[in-house]
Amino acid sequence: MSVLHPDVLTHDTEGALPVRLIGRGQALSGAEAVWAKAHDFTGKAGQLLMLAGPDGALVGAMFGTGDRFDPVSVRGLAARLPAGLWRLEGLPGDQAERAAQAFALGSYRFDRYKARQPSGVRLSVPAHVDVEALSRIAAACALAREMIDTPAADMGPLQIETVAREIAEAHEAAFTVTTGEALLEENYPAVHAVGRAATTERAPRVIEIGWNLKRTDLPLVALVGKGVVFDTGGLDIKSAAGMRNMKKDMGGAAHALALGRLVMQAGLAVRLVVLVAAVENAVSADAFRPGDILNSRKGLSIEIGNTDAEGRLILADVLTRASEHAPDLTLDFATLTGAARIALGPELPPLYTDDEALASDLLAAASAVGDPMWRMPLWPGYVAALETEIADVKNDSSAWAQAGSVTAALFLQKFAPTTGAWAHLDIFAWNPRARPGWPEGGEAQAMRACFEMLSRRYAI
Ligand code: BES
Ligand code: MN
Ligand code: ZN
Repeated sequence: MSVLHPDVLTHDTEGALPVRLIGRGQALSGAEAVWAKAHDFTGKAGQLLMLAGPDGALVGAMFGTGDRFDPVSVRGLAARLPAGLWRLEGLPGDQAERAAQAFALGSYRFDRYKARQPSGVRLSVPAHVDVEALSRIAAACALAREMIDTPAADMGPLQIETVAREIAEAHEAAFTVTTGEALLEENYPAVHAVGRAATTERAPRVIEIGWNLKRTDLPLVALVGKGVVFDTGGLDIKSAAGMRNMKKDMGGAAHALALGRLVMQAGLAVRLVVLVAAVENAVSADAFRPGDILNSRKGLSIEIGNTDAEGRLILADVLTRASEHAPDLTLDFATLTGAARIALGPELPPLYTDDEALASDLLAAASAVGDPMWRMPLWPGYVAALETEIADVKNDSSAWAQAGSVTAALFLQKFAPTTGAWAHLDIFAWNPRARPGWPEGGEAQAMRACFEMLSRRYAI
């Protein structure tokens, strides 16, 4: 897949036009002050004013930073500047890296189906900024976003497999796919049940990448992703509004794969396993039903209260698979519940973990790179909401417990590896409102933070 313009960030300086960062009320002089006043430019955060020379040529721009410069605002700048090479003037040196990262993230556009001129906007960054590293991170976010933005018809289980295969091959990693009936032979009964209603070309599959596995001296990290390529809800079919954006329901898989690629590119001192369950939650005569009782890889029986709570079913099997590697650390990403966005809105993914060190490392990394998450409780009092008389567990929690994102996390906890720490991110993976730098559509969430945490823990 195409990703991002590879040299949005550069150390080239030749001909770079300045974008001057101007705080609110900052004094300007001469012609500039007059020009600013004529345009009501006050330095308010996000204001952008182009500057022309005496001959009318573009010579630079002023960008309002308000009361305090927030490097994240540079994301919007990237999407608004005209083509050319730019440099940020008046940027505190310690903010250069975050500003550059924001600029690269803000340059993403989804143009797979709508041919557009390349934006041609580039940023010249100071010599101390690691262009390679920042570009790789931006490319990982772009990959996840592009996978999410691609319609389900063109991002089915096979296409996810293809992306995964390319990533594995580029890093000489082991690659295994278990598809269709083989899921039953290889003991992935829940993945099979959820995905079997799809057409044969879109058969369910478990995709596994293994990297560096011979280095048994190194800690093992498992990255797990929910890859529901389209979630109709199954027989408990969603409303039109509820179904509209469900091409994004493979967002967790996109995150796990893109993060896995980053870990391999950076050569972190770990063994890595990436596990993705890719299925279509479709409606057909062969679909699994409310009231069915599924077996799981772990051997726990699961009563289906609602076929729309499908993500936790496929994750149950791949989390069990992950636990067979005895990981030291497992991270899973999933667009698991609508309840997560009721609790925290679309911009703040809930983080669940019982490991205090992991929670604090993740939250520290999240604030360091401006990729937020919010810790929520694995509240043991609500485990009872997953109980049923006729199976080991049920997939739709009893209404009394209310907290749908919490009970979904508690369901996953029953299957998560216990050898090491485990964290679950209930991501939204989508920008619901369009702003410059944040186009409506797929979004990478908590992935840069996870990579920062992994880089700090497992630097080479
Ligand atoms: N993929 C959805 C969750 C979702 C919906 C994420 C909207 C982001 C936006 C998931 O499979 C689902 O349908 N969950 C149900 C669970 C319920 C039936 C117990 C939900 O959250 O309503
Ligand atoms: Mn669903
Ligand atoms: Zn779903």
